[in-house]
Amino acid sequence: MFRSGGVRGILLPRPFAQGVPETRTFPLQLWERLERQVLKETGTQALLHCDPQGADPLRRAIADYVNLERGARATADRVLVLTSSQQAMTLCATVLLDRGDRIFIEDPVYYGARKAFDAASLECVPIPVNRQGIVIEQIVNDPRGGKAVSLTPSHQFPTGATLALDRRLALIEWAAQYQAWIIEDDYDSEFHYAGKPTACVQGLDPHDRTIYIGTFTKSLFPGLRIGYVVLPPQLVKPMIVARSLLDGHTASIAQLTLARFMEGGHFGAYVRAMRSMYAERLEVLASRVSKHLSAFVEPRVPVGGLQMPCMLTCDLSERDAVDAARRFEIDLMGLSALHAAGTGEAGFLMGFAAYTPAEIEIGVRKLAKAFQSIASKKRR
Ligand SMILES: Cc1ncc(COP(=O)(O)O)c(C=O)c1O
Repeated sequence: MFRSGGVRGILLPRPFAQGVPETRTFPLQLWERLERQVLKETGTQALLHCDPQGADPLRRAIADYVNLERGARATADRVLVLTSSQQAMTLCATVLLDRGDRIFIEDPVYYGARKAFDAASLECVPIPVNRQGIVIEQIVNDPRGGKAVSLTPSHQFPTGATLALDRRLALIEWAAQYQAWIIEDDYDSEFHYAGKPTACVQGLDPHDRTIYIGTFTKSLFPGLRIGYVVLPPQLVKPMIVARSLLDGHTASIAQLTLARFMEGGHFGAYVRAMRSMYAERLEVLASRVSKHLSAFVEPRVPVGGLQMPCMLTCDLSERDAVDAARRFEIDLMGLSALHAAGTGEAGFLMGFAAYTPAEIEIGVRKLAKAFQSIASKKRR
């Protein structure tokens, strides 16, 4: 666990670091004004400890938001405010499962989830993902069963697949039958560009076996450090106790400011504005990749999210491609390491949300140069 490192965010994003939202256009003055209002109205009360479950107004705002936008079935008393999805995954791993318990994970998988489960000494059972999401037959027919399944159903990380409705329903029935848990990581569902987003699994689950995980890392900014879970009623108390052992509670002033940002309609407006900005950036990236990199990669244009997978179609290895890009100050995340066996189709993720069309254009041209330079070295 130590050798594999923790889960570090990107400190200074540069093209095409993946998963990073645009922060340079964030309405800081508005945020500052709302924070001042909070301090004025709550006074020194805001400086004290707060409820480990989270500030009331924020839990209400989150419940309203996920019900309306994600088709969830949430109430404020089932929302637990945390610092991140990462914290939510660690809590799920330690509260819901015991060492050695089997958990089904997507293959390829989000590294943060995998590391949280490995750190809790769970037995991760990788299940392949295809265009309809995780292949559920391997879960429901597994004779050894499992205590939980961890998923990114609205936008699978890293493939971008959306979990089909029939698979969602089958997983819900499986979980009910075996008293297993569904851990639903809905990390970037705000950003859906084509067609309608699918409602979350939690909202479809009448048996209360789903833990819904949300975060403001993508929809607002990663430095905010606010995530949350919507819990089945029976898990609310144990999860609050477990969280209180980790860090007590989330910082109050940030919670109260965020609650105002949401109540005042600013969150909805901000997400809508960013959605159209990101849709344009995705279009620019896809067209520039097709124009300048067609000899090397095939882009898999996603329906949502902040990054685009590209598969290598030339004889460059993934390692060579990622290293060459880095020499040209371009960051790519290789896809192979996200596969359970460390192998899989060679390719990489290209983040697009945090870069302007001009930065994307320059970045793609640099990348073309980087690839050409190693391709010609290889030919020599
Ligand atoms: C699939 C997935 N889940 C969760 C997160 C992180 O969220 P948080 O910063 O809330 O831990 C990320 C990326 O940062 C992600 O890619």
